[in-house]
Amino acid sequence: MDIIPRNIHFGISAEPRRRWFDDDLVKTAAVDAFSIFLPEGERFFIRSLRHYSGKLANEELDAEIKGYAVQEAYHTREHEDYNVALRELGYDIDGMEATVRHVLGRVKRPLDRLLVTCAIEQITYGTSKMMLKTPDLFANSAGHYACLWIWHAVEELEHSAVAPHVLEAATPEMSGLKRYILRTVTMAGVLALFYKLWISHTVRIAVANGRKRDMKLYGRIVYLLFISPGLLRRTSTGLARYFLPFYDPVAPEDAGLLAAGRKRLDALLETTPLPQKAAA
Ligand SMILES: [Fe+2]
Ligand SMILES: [Fe+2]
Repeated sequence: MDIIPRNIHFGISAEPRRRWFDDDLVKTAAVDAFSIFLPEGERFFIRSLRHYSGKLANEELDAEIKGYAVQEAYHTREHEDYNVALRELGYDIDGMEATVRHVLGRVKRPLDRLLVTCAIEQITYGTSKMMLKTPDLFANSAGHYACLWIWHAVEELEHSAVAPHVLEAATPEMSGLKRYILRTVTMAGVLALFYKLWISHTVRIAVANGRKRDMKLYGRIVYLLFISPGLLRRTSTGLARYFLPFYDPVAPEDAGLLAAGRKRLDALLETTPLPQKAAA
């Protein structure tokens, strides 16, 4: 897949919205909670892959890592701005980011960092595919938020194979079985922690907006994640593929999905005025 970094400012902090997704507070909270992970996560991924740049005697892979790092650097910038917007809405973003930083900071060894990067990239890839496969997902959403998420989804698909390629190249002596066990055990641990934090951050955002922390709120979150629109359920096929012994990081449908996603992104950018921060 061609990796095409797109340097676009979406202006989320210039026009923060409390209910940008279908005018629905909890739905918005669920996607905003996903964004909270990204600046810390993306910095971690870039460092994890750059560690191997120039060490694998593979110029093609070095070029992939470079394209990956540029895309993720733009993502970090835009998700930092997104988190500025969330902070302005009154949420404890510093506290939630500190938790993410603490969790990722415990992963020290380069190979472990690479395995965690592969796992989280697969989660992001699955979420991105769900967004691209559901053209009406953001039909009733604020345009600048929809543009940002479709842009992110397209670029996540473009670079989804980079981390698994680096893992393969970085472990030439390792048996396929050992690599499989490390990959899948890491994914199981990452998934458990990620879902726990995602739900907890969604609850914190909803509570900051006056919702009671009760069974009704948890029931609504479970409904959104697993039933409709099924934000987690619909990522499960992609995640399940990761547990296959001969996992291929690119699915046969990806090329068509990406082509349609790029067209959709161009159309959205043509018709959506992106807000600009007023000069100080
Ligand atoms: Fe990203
Ligand atoms: Fe990514």
